[in-house]
Amino acid sequence: MNHPYVSYFKIEEKKLAQQFADRHELTLASPRQIRIKKGLKLVIWITKDQIFLQDLGDKNSKPFILDFRLLDKEKSDRGLIKKCFSKFDKSSKVFDLTAGFCQDAYCIANLGFEVTAYEKESWLFEFTKNCLNFSKKENLKLFNLNSLEVLNTFTQKDILFIDPMFEVNSKSLAKKEIQFLRKCIPSSLEKEIIDASIKSSAGLIVIKRHKLSNTRNLTKPSYVIKGKVISLEVFDRRGL
Ligand SMILES: C[S@@+](CC[C@H](N)C(=O)[O-])C[C@H]1O[C@@H](n2cnc3c(N)ncnc32)[C@H](O)[C@@H]1O
Repeated sequence: MNHPYVSYFKIEEKKLAQQFADRHELTLASPRQIRIKKGLKLVIWITKDQIFLQDLGDKNSKPFILDFRLLDKEKSDRGLIKKCFSKFDKSSKVFDLTAGFCQDAYCIANLGFEVTAYEKESWLFEFTKNCLNFSKKENLKLFNLNSLEVLNTFTQKDILFIDPMFEVNSKSLAKKEIQFLRKCIPSSLEKEIIDASIKSSAGLIVIKRHKLSNTRNLTKPSYVIKGKVISLEVFDRRGL
């Protein structure tokens, strides 16, 4: 697996960067050390106020954070999520089992649902949590946990959302945030979470699929909401 390096812009912030690296068992490297390294150069920049990500292997990349307010203006695939979730009862709780940058979870929370999101990678959890703190979304809670540990706690009333990471060589179809994740998070274990969700007692399961993804479930979805690049497979087991 390609772990990102942890680094700093200012030497005064080196200690903070070292603490972040130690907390998440990552490697601290100076900006110069990273620049001269061969191979992938994914960086987590630590400052006293913010955490930034950057792919130094991409000449055009700049350090980025997640600006959740921009998501409200963005159309893209999240229009599909709105279309899908607006049919569901708002008193149901939504569990995002693959939180990542919480962009989908944020969109679902914006529709009025109570959303609990789980992210297993601790550095990614800390980065996203840090960005979410600026958006103050009361009905979105993020935890650093492997979702497999909570799958037996769901009930008929619950809605599960899964956005599996999938292998793809083309970078043209993904935003810089997701490209960053694809380079450092393996996609191999995602089938496990899908299979376990389908076996859970949750009444509704929504799985986000990319048209280039070739993993398919053995169980057929109740229906599919199709977009140009993304589809949402809905498993509706309410009342079964
Ligand atoms: C494609 S990304 C999700 C992107 C997300 N939908 C968003 O809007 O930013 C998949 C994420 O799920 C996480 N993940 C995969 N399996 C998990 C599990 N069993 N428990 C918690 N997180 C998991 C990965 O670490 C990765 O960050």
